[in-house]
Amino acid sequence: MLVKLLLLPFVLLSCATNGNAGVTSAFIRTEWPSVDIPLDNEVFAVPKGHNAPQQVHITQGDYDGKAVIISWVTPDEPGSNKVRYGLSEGKLDLTAEGTVHNYTFYNYKSGHIHRCLIDNLQYDTKYYYEIGDGDSSRRFWFRTPLPIDPDAPQKFGIIGDLGQTYNSLSTLEHCSQTGAETILFVGDLSYADRYSYNDVGIRWDSWGRFAERSAAYQPWLWSAGNHEIEYFPYMGEVIPFRNYLQRYPTPYLASKSSSPLWYSVRRASAHIIVLSSYSPFVKYTPQWEWLREEFTRVDREKTPWLIVLMHAPIYNSNDAHFMEGESMRVVFESWFCHYKVDIIFAGHVHAYERSYRISNIKYNASSGSSNPVPDKSAPVYVTVGDGGNQEGLAQRFRDPQPDFSAFREASYGHSTLEIKNRTHAIYHWNRNDDGKRIPTDSFVLLNQYWGLNRRRRKLKKNHLHSVLSDISESLVV
Ligand SMILES: *[C@@H]1O[C@H](CO)[C@@H](O)[C@H](O)[C@H]1NC(C)=O
Ligand SMILES: *[C@@H]1O[C@H](CO)[C@@H](O)[C@H](O)[C@H]1NC(C)=O
Ligand SMILES: *[C@@H]1O[C@H](CO)[C@@H](O)[C@H](O)[C@H]1NC(C)=O
Ligand SMILES: [Fe+2]
Repeated sequence: MLVKLLLLPFVLLSCATNGNAGVTSAFIRTEWPSVDIPLDNEVFAVPKGHNAPQQVHITQGDYDGKAVIISWVTPDEPGSNKVRYGLSEGKLDLTAEGTVHNYTFYNYKSGHIHRCLIDNLQYDTKYYYEIGDGDSSRRFWFRTPLPIDPDAPQKFGIIGDLGQTYNSLSTLEHCSQTGAETILFVGDLSYADRYSYNDVGIRWDSWGRFAERSAAYQPWLWSAGNHEIEYFPYMGEVIPFRNYLQRYPTPYLASKSSSPLWYSVRRASAHIIVLSSYSPFVKYTPQWEWLREEFTRVDREKTPWLIVLMHAPIYNSNDAHFMEGESMRVVFESWFCHYKVDIIFAGHVHAYERSYRISNIKYNASSGSSNPVPDKSAPVYVTVGDGGNQEGLAQRFRDPQPDFSAFREASYGHSTLEIKNRTHAIYHWNRNDDGKRIPTDSFVLLNQYWGLNRRRRKLKKNHLHSVLSDISESLVV
């Protein structure tokens, strides 16, 4: 089904041995046609049966991972709001009742959008669930995470700027091959805003059916990008994020947030903070006040891994969107360093880039300009806006590669972060390579709380020994 790509031969520039010099990968491909898959393609197929549920997706429903929000759309009539669920396919003996709503966008009328919270779930358990009525009902499953515990493993897939092209499909397929249990989505979902009038809503629907192959089974933690803003005065649609907010609920109340656009969840050994690049964030705004409080609630003894998601990257050496993350950097970077965030994922730039641990928090007006400097307290910044949407790749990196940039490549792909325990996580960036998944940029991420200060923490001596002997592994960040 996938059109074969013509690959040009590639050579990876050898990693310079001196100091911090980063790698600009010389991998080049002729661009896959960046067009959306036609609506009549099977990837957007409407499920059979009258009023059959479609666009099914799940997300975490509480702070600690014992609840799930299930969302789906019925096209013809509201139908049932019930979810039947249970521990085996033959025994869906539990039910939960959700809500339904609909809305218009210009003259487009949405289907009936259901959302249902299932709570009091058991940790580390596979649940089956069924939605819809009679012959049109459909079944799916999901797994709950391990209980909150500093050594609880968890494998995240990280995807950004996905869209609905053949490249997007390749990214989704590759990510599911990795066995990622939870998807961290860094914004720009459907690119429906590239259409006009009623086609905007229609392309939100097709994207919902497209993403269902993953999002009905693995919880996706959503964050909003600029393509979710959809400020369209010419069709009388001026309230930002309307389609997105109608369709993609988040558990924001559980983290005391006042907006679904920024929130946080805890999952196994990770505390994940989701920010909104396109909502007010300067001092005294609700997002700023919330984040200040949320950082104080992070408990690295319980959740050692502190991960932040946002759309516009703070460190980016691509010509595309250069410096767009600067305003958020000025406001939040000192907190990221103070609270020793482990890793920050962003999208927006349609390429891949990873930074060294650097910060630029010393600037003040009287000292004039300042540059990023190595900083052990700083997070690693990763840009994975390379999901494969119809806008194509951001091919032009700035030359020379700045000191902060460790690895960069203009290809499509996604990342995985496999947390092993409180000290170690294995990170991969996986390039979409001619229909195959090629792990390309990999490293061992040492935890900023337990890893760096491991001598002083409460790790038992025998554990300590194995950690130290492990540090000699390939690339440790
Ligand atoms: C929403 O659904 C109800 C019930 O089917 C219907 O009567 C109403 O017209 C719909 N509203 C919109 C805005 O589509
Ligand atoms: C600001 O820069 C000046 C000039 O380099 C320096 O003397 C001063 O200590 C700096 N202030 C802060 C708060 O870092
Ligand atoms: C943590 O995981 C790493 C990588 O799998 C392993 O080498 C190390 O021994 C583990 N540490 C502890 C304390 O279990
Ligand atoms: Fe974007």
